[in-house]
Amino acid sequence: MNRDSESITDSTQIPSKSFPKIHPLKSKNTLAVSARDIDYILAAKNMASKLRLPYHALTQDLKYTDGYDYLLLISGEGVGIAKTGKKAPAPVYVDFTSGAVAHRRKYGGGKGQDIAKAIGLNKQGRLSVFDATAGLGRDAFVLATLGCQVTLFERVPFVRALLASGLEQAREHKEIADIMVNMQLVDGTLGSYQQESDVKADVVYLDPMFPHTEKSAAAKKEMTFFRELIGHDADADDLLDTALDVAKYRVVVKRPKDAPYLNNKKPTYQINGKSGRFDVYVLQSLDKINNG
Ligand SMILES: C[S@@+](CC[C@H](N)C(=O)[O-])C[C@H]1O[C@@H](n2cnc3c(N)ncnc32)[C@H](O)[C@@H]1O
Repeated sequence: MNRDSESITDSTQIPSKSFPKIHPLKSKNTLAVSARDIDYILAAKNMASKLRLPYHALTQDLKYTDGYDYLLLISGEGVGIAKTGKKAPAPVYVDFTSGAVAHRRKYGGGKGQDIAKAIGLNKQGRLSVFDATAGLGRDAFVLATLGCQVTLFERVPFVRALLASGLEQAREHKEIADIMVNMQLVDGTLGSYQQESDVKADVVYLDPMFPHTEKSAAAKKEMTFFRELIGHDADADDLLDTALDVAKYRVVVKRPKDAPYLNNKKPTYQINGKSGRFDVYVLQSLDKINNG
């Protein structure tokens, strides 16, 4: 993270005529922006103003900090998010270079993974994919690793800031340079993109937030902030129709095991995994890419 940076920059190649509207947080949990050390105060204040969040001067350890439930932390490590108060888990950063994401890249099963089959990578190698609900970019990174050209859309400004920072840091790692060129974070949402451009993607991928179950809540403590700050994407049903309009070959929806179909629309087929499933809506066969 450049300490003097005025704002987060993305390598946006798809032009966007209008700056995306800020998607307001509807949560009762509070969020502010802080600097982890004095050198990053200016960058944190700029980020707070860009995201229309309060700036909080951090004067003590996170476990003794009150006033805000969460802090977006700006430091030399980039942008992270931390819960305040006692027993809070460690701050979360988008890190494509180590930990679980890197492990999955090396040993995750390549094109044998359910997500790869759902996208159609067993049929075609280099597909263009619009990830309309990018979140922390983990699924997009798997697809980019497998050779897809992935365009990422994320509407919640603080999540977008975490993601942009993770992408920026990852671009400096030679080992994954060829993967990072496959990932492009753009302004706006799939809906706003559709209004401005006729360009379609081979596949549109959706993974909207779903009301959590007790089991999923226990499984990923460090991801609690997603649920507490964003909650449930109540408009996800509408996104399916937009996706079906923008995709050339298929739309893939990631769903928890027992969740209903998006918009009550039955998929062409499903791929069921241990903890969830992929609903695949086929528009035309991927075999047609080669045959015109
Ligand atoms: C479950 S998370 C996605 C996680 C992601 N697949 C990953 O691997 O990190 C869902 C994300 O989609 C975003 N989202 C939901 N609806 C959206 C929309 N219409 N446009 C852009 N982003 C959206 C939410 O803000 C949230 O960050």
